[in-house]
Amino acid sequence: MKRFIFLGPPGAGKGTQADYLSDKLSIEHISTGELLRQEINEKTALGEKARSFVETGDLVPDEIVIEILKEHIRKIRGAGYILDGYPRNTAQAESLEEHEIIVDKAVLFDIDKETVVKRLSGRLYCPKCKKFYHSEYRPPQKDMACDNCGRALVRRKDDDPVSIENRIKVYFDQTHPLIEYYEKKGKLEHIDANRSVEAIHKDLFKRIGR
Ligand code: AP5
Repeated sequence: MKRFIFLGPPGAGKGTQADYLSDKLSIEHISTGELLRQEINEKTALGEKARSFVETGDLVPDEIVIEILKEHIRKIRGAGYILDGYPRNTAQAESLEEHEIIVDKAVLFDIDKETVVKRLSGRLYCPKCKKFYHSEYRPPQKDMACDNCGRALVRRKDDDPVSIENRIKVYFDQTHPLIEYYEKKGKLEHIDANRSVEAIHKDLFKRIGR
């Protein structure tokens, strides 16, 4: 079993690398952001409660996120998982332990703020395949259409300048303390996330994939 947490600021490339590593290792990629967007699109009761938090970039209340994650993780039967974007605060990290959800390594994506802003400002998203592109760094083959399904690419609502600024602030206020939390447990692995997608793929696989 391989069980990882991907930690880091918004736009650090956690989702991009989790997609790659989960395919390569045949493990599940669980993004709480994606699970929440799904609930919001389907207009479920949980989604309606979460909507305003996600759109402004504030953390969704713990009880909602923990409920969604627990439901999802119960169904996993494969060789492991990557938790992308969970935990986001100490209470969520403790809830993993309470529910006996094991973490082998917490991978911290270290990145500069200016790089994060550039990545989020140009991000494009396929609402069907849930794949991310970037207008400059990872452009689709055809203008504004998904390479897989041809659907028109969109921008995420929370990728506007005000929400980006808030998400970065929320990260430093609430999620950053987890670095020390996992460091003390001897589980923290730093990755320099300022590099190209391919350079990070290789490094990540060498460090935690084998
Ligand atoms: P979530 O969906 O988790 O968003 P996030 O943490 O803000 O992270 P992002 O998805 O923005 O960035 P990423 O690091 O995955 O980067 P990506 O690979 O896409 O959460 C959204 C919201 O849901 C939260 O704000 C909150 O409201 C709520 N939420 C989620 N989890 C929660 C929790 N546990 N508790 C409470 N609330 C929760 O890359 C970004 C862009 O850069 C892409 O365009 C990509 O193509 C490009 N790119 C990636 N890597 C590179 C590279 N190396 N070089 C150049 N470009 C690159």
